Amino acid sequence: MGYNLLEGKKGIIFGALDENSIAWHVAQHVYEEGGRFVLTNHDLALRKGDIYRLAEKTQAPVIAADVTSIDDLENLFDETLKHFGSGIDFILHAVGMSPNVRKNIPYPELNYEYFMKTIDISALSLHKILSVAYKKDAINEYGSVITLSYIGAQRQFTSYSDMSQAKAMLESIVRSFGYHYGIKKKVRINSVSQSPTITTAGKGVKGFDAFYQFSNCMSPLGNATAEECAKFCVLLFSDYARKVTMQNIYHDGGFSTMGISDKLMTECFSCTGKCMEEE
Ligand code: NAI
Repeated sequence: MGYNLLEGKKGIIFGALDENSIAWHVAQHVYEEGGRFVLTNHDLALRKGDIYRLAEKTQAPVIAADVTSIDDLENLFDETLKHFGSGIDFILHAVGMSPNVRKNIPYPELNYEYFMKTIDISALSLHKILSVAYKKDAINEYGSVITLSYIGAQRQFTSYSDMSQAKAMLESIVRSFGYHYGIKKKVRINSVSQSPTITTAGKGVKGFDAFYQFSNCMSPLGNATAEECAKFCVLLFSDYARKVTMQNIYHDGGFSTMGISDKLMTECFSCTGKCMEEE
């Protein structure tokens, strides 16, 4: 049951691929809270077909857009503004992909064409979306934009590879565009740095299960689920977070502040001391 926190608000949700996607959960919760939206993804993802189930449940039109294409984004915003007959109040950017991660290429040997693709899809796309919205004056005053990040932007997670650089750039775009859109229209822009979550993108990272278990044992509250992330996004879209902008907010059960936990030492980590013998 919702609380009508988003009654009357309209938006665009990027990145719902299947029912595990964080964006899928956000769409469901936004809908329950009275928000209405357009769903978008690139052609290939739409062909998978799952998104139309979500669209039906949430009365949302589906408009294809590749986030790397300015033409697609222009069309998406034009069609969205036409659909609602007015400006929008929120955007969820839940998009990420690294061909280097997918192909498991070792970090010192990264393919630079792939690297550029990682940056374009996973980071620059936020700038492109905001730039198109800014030019079209598509977001209403105190509108709220959220992108999803990961602590790999700040710390070294060995198999996160070039996604670490993409997330660092993404968080930097949040701060820079947060300033410009704040001045122009009081639009809020934040990144939510989420716990490892079992989704298509998540499982694509080598050793994901170990990441997932490690952070679950380390975090005093345990990993945050996709559903909990969705509820937090509702809060950030709502008027209860009107002065929160240009932040990277950890939504991770406390993981980002931990050094070591009792649980990890006693239950999960049986150290053999082998690494010390090798020194
Ligand atoms: P997901 O695989 O369900 O979502 C990724 C989405 O990006 C998919 O819908 C995919 O179709 C879309 N996408 C890829 N290339 C695109 C393009 N060129 N144009 C338009 N859309 C494109 O996985 P998830 O986990 O829900 O990912 C959403 C966001 O959350 C990503 O930015 C991811 O990095 C971030 N995140 C995920 C975590 C996890 O452990 N799953 C942890 C922290 C952040």
